[in-house]
Amino acid sequence: MPDTAPAGTPRRDAGRPGTLRIAPSVLSADFGALAEQVGEVAASADWLHVDVMDGHFVPNLTIGPPVVASLRRHTPLFFDCHLMMTNPGDYLSDFADAGADGCTVHVEIGGTAALLDQMRQLGLRAGLALNPDTPFEAVAPFLNDVDLVLCMTVFPGFGGQSFMAEVLDKVRQVRQAVDAGSLALDIEVDGGIDAETAPRAAEAGANVFVAGSAIFSHPRPWEAAERIRASIA
Ligand code: DX5
Ligand code: ZN
Repeated sequence: MPDTAPAGTPRRDAGRPGTLRIAPSVLSADFGALAEQVGEVAASADWLHVDVMDGHFVPNLTIGPPVVASLRRHTPLFFDCHLMMTNPGDYLSDFADAGADGCTVHVEIGGTAALLDQMRQLGLRAGLALNPDTPFEAVAPFLNDVDLVLCMTVFPGFGGQSFMAEVLDKVRQVRQAVDAGSLALDIEVDGGIDAETAPRAAEAGANVFVAGSAIFSHPRPWEAAERIRASIA
């Protein structure tokens, strides 16, 4: 039986906002053996990060709802779906039906308020992402309406790029606003995260760490995930 929750019902627990989370990104996993690869990190992962690329918002294509639904049958992990798409609104209900727990849309595409509303109606945890060159001010108006802010630490589209340290100032701005408003939300970083860069992002205020190549290019992926966790703790 697919482990999919009907829209509007509580989903897998995301955990307490603001706590340390390691989210391996399957983008760097072997797509021909996805279930096994996820099994290799399951015990060391808090969330599973699923990168969805539409060939339009970013110049790359990856996976969509059918793969999410297939993976859902193999793991109870919280699915953190990062939608690098120009028109995510057309697919949110498909992701919800497929077993996504949280979806994150990019602020650059516009229509943010309606998309956040749609995610809520579907019972999804709602995230908002911003590219490295998008200023904090773009997400500031929505901080009361999101569960997660994703600060991209590379330009989205590909795994294996170098961490952009200049994004850390923006992470600090988000952290400051979250603390000042006592907001219950997660601050996620994604791109070039490993045991060297994760502590720098943590120091700036991030609490969710997405890592693709650092984890899945390691011969023992769980060990790489634990190394990142230890580097922060
Ligand atoms: C990039 C994706 C990332 C990617 C990160 O567009 O959003 O989630 O998997 O990969 P690494 O950790 O290799 O930078
Ligand atoms: Zn991502």
